[in-house]
Amino acid sequence: MATAAERSPNVVWQRTHVDRAARAARGWCGAVVWLTGLPSSGKSTIAARVEELLVAKGRPAYLLDGDNLRHGLCGDLGFSAADRSENIRRAAHVAALLADAGLVALVALVSPFRADRERARAIAAKAAIPFAEVYVATPPEECERRDPKGLWRRARNGEIQGFTGVDDPYEPPTEPDLVLTPEFAAFEAAQRVLELIERISPTAGPAHAGS
Ligand code: ADX
Repeated sequence: MATAAERSPNVVWQRTHVDRAARAARGWCGAVVWLTGLPSSGKSTIAARVEELLVAKGRPAYLLDGDNLRHGLCGDLGFSAADRSENIRRAAHVAALLADAGLVALVALVSPFRADRERARAIAAKAAIPFAEVYVATPPEECERRDPKGLWRRARNGEIQGFTGVDDPYEPPTEPDLVLTPEFAAFEAAQRVLELIERISPTAGPAHAGS
């Protein structure tokens, strides 16, 4: 049951006919995998690879990428601490819905603040959805060297204010479920994430669906 602060007034939860067990019996077992790290750390690249591998083996998955969410659902938000917090809250709820529907929701957001990420974990926990935090621990110098979108350079030139890693803070996870350092190539990193998903949300796979 949501608290008053989490729901609109005068609404009650509507129960539907298909529950999680019914979906799991078809092999659709959801989870939320939350990738956090500095801009250009490789979160999206790794998550996209994981999504591709999961879908290729018949496991439904969907990547919620920070840049993409900011083209729609979160397009009204900027980069103040309050807006980042709201960004993460929305992504966490969407991820929980996708996971409830039986998908592996991969979330790739800078999500620089520990408290916001803890809230994302709590949103999943409240819905009894498996959750794991993956820290893409690429050092700032390496992120800045890569800079595929030229944003680090623009932030250094003062063209972007409040850029994470330049003049806005990043709080590393204290107890991540997995740490990925740049020694891992994206493919290897993706394999580690797949192993993690299998640990937190094992599935018999589609071959067993409906049997
Ligand atoms: S978060 O902090 O709210 O989690 P999110 O992951 O959605 O951030 O968006 C980060 C992306 O927006 C970065 O990959 C980068 O491309 C872009 N960006 C633009 N401005 C900023 C900024 N001030 N800080 C961080 N990322 C920014």
